[in-house]
Amino acid sequence: MSHKKSDAYHKISIPPSAQPTGCPVDSAFSPFDPDYLNNPYPQLEQLSAERPIFFAEQLGYLVVTGMDNVMEVLKNHEVFSSENVQDPVFPVCERAKAILSADDYNPQAVMSNSQQPEHTRIRKYTRDGFNARRMKLLEPYIRETTDRLLTQILDQGGPAEFISSFTHPLPGQVIFRFIGFPEADDEKLIYWTSNRLIFTWGKPTDEEQVEIAENMLRYWRYCRDFVASRNLQPADDLASELLAAHKENPQELTYREVESIIYGLSFAGHEIVSNFIGLTLQNVLPRRDRWEACCNDLSLIPGMLEEVLRFDSPQISWRRVATQDTRLGGVDIPKGTRIFISLGSANRDPALFSAPAEFNIDRVNASKHIAFGYGIHFCLGARLARLEAQIAIEALVTRVPSLRLVDNQDFSFAPNITFRGPLKLYAKWDET
Ligand code: HEM
Repeated sequence: MSHKKSDAYHKISIPPSAQPTGCPVDSAFSPFDPDYLNNPYPQLEQLSAERPIFFAEQLGYLVVTGMDNVMEVLKNHEVFSSENVQDPVFPVCERAKAILSADDYNPQAVMSNSQQPEHTRIRKYTRDGFNARRMKLLEPYIRETTDRLLTQILDQGGPAEFISSFTHPLPGQVIFRFIGFPEADDEKLIYWTSNRLIFTWGKPTDEEQVEIAENMLRYWRYCRDFVASRNLQPADDLASELLAAHKENPQELTYREVESIIYGLSFAGHEIVSNFIGLTLQNVLPRRDRWEACCNDLSLIPGMLEEVLRFDSPQISWRRVATQDTRLGGVDIPKGTRIFISLGSANRDPALFSAPAEFNIDRVNASKHIAFGYGIHFCLGARLARLEAQIAIEALVTRVPSLRLVDNQDFSFAPNITFRGPLKLYAKWDET
């Protein structure tokens, strides 16, 4: 049963966190608070100014804010291990545990939650998989998919809901082609993988846990069958490339590691890019001068996207666990303390970014953000994510410069501690 093993992709039975003494304790802070979900920044600004490191009682995590503190944690990967980043935040119910206890459910920690020396060994192969040639091969597919989705939206007429029709299907289809999954399976793959963020980073009901666990198992079995088929008949895709590396040196990259990389990537590369493009539209469309500047000069788009990553990060937090007694920002941290690192607060640190709460596409140091993390686990998909967002926004400013948000809409966000992007976004345009 995978969750019993120390190298399991998701550890389902989690020991309680150690709690530091002598640091502020906050009984009110919760990333599930509707105000925080809607806009976490006013609370983060106040907390990081008043008590940058505190224990959040409701969450059971030590919250670390501010660029210096967050960087200290990310840099010291031996003291602050990433082994817990894929673990469910809250206990998993017995029925969902039973589903994930299937003998053949055994995905392994291979990237974000794997530790040294395995992490460096495996990352070498996954990093190679994101090579310039594969990105070049993928680029025309990203452009075609963007154009096809946009044509469908424009043909149907406005207003349209852009998350379900554009920002979500685009990165889903791109990551599936990158891996090598056949197009015919897109619909079921999106269904199986879409709710996993709630399982791991949210507060799902027992019923939701059971449904998601069933889909996780189905998806894992699909990944195994797919890898087996590529093993027999290789193609020009990431799965075949990883299998070729495995065949060349089976000790260096095992067969189950290949299966597990495929399993993890479909999530890592999908929802978050949808959030990124959704947040870009939410922030830029109402600032007409900024949108129009990009319509008139496509070279402004990369800088604008960096400012979105800084100002409204699609991943506002990440996690670590202390592997030994240590000290951070004047706080003694016992071994076993679970840590909630606030990337969102670091990206708005006034010591690094002047007027951090202002969205400024001309900001010269916007790219100093840590929206993609830092250090040995730095996001492998950063280049792909930027490319997808660049192509998506270029297509929109070129084909529908009159695009604007439908007035008076309330945005809502999936209740979870980490990933943030509008669940729905309605926009309209002038029909020609
Ligand atoms: C805007 C989009 C994205 C954001 C904001 C983002 C953010 C992050 C962050 C914060 C981390 C953790 C880094 C750390 O622990 O220091 C991470 C890791 C990772 N991301 Fe992304 N990501 C994005 C898109 C993607 C895409 C498109 C892919 C794949 C196609 C991807 C694959 C990964 C992988 C494999 C890791 C683990 C790397 C490792 O542990 O060595 N990400 N990402």
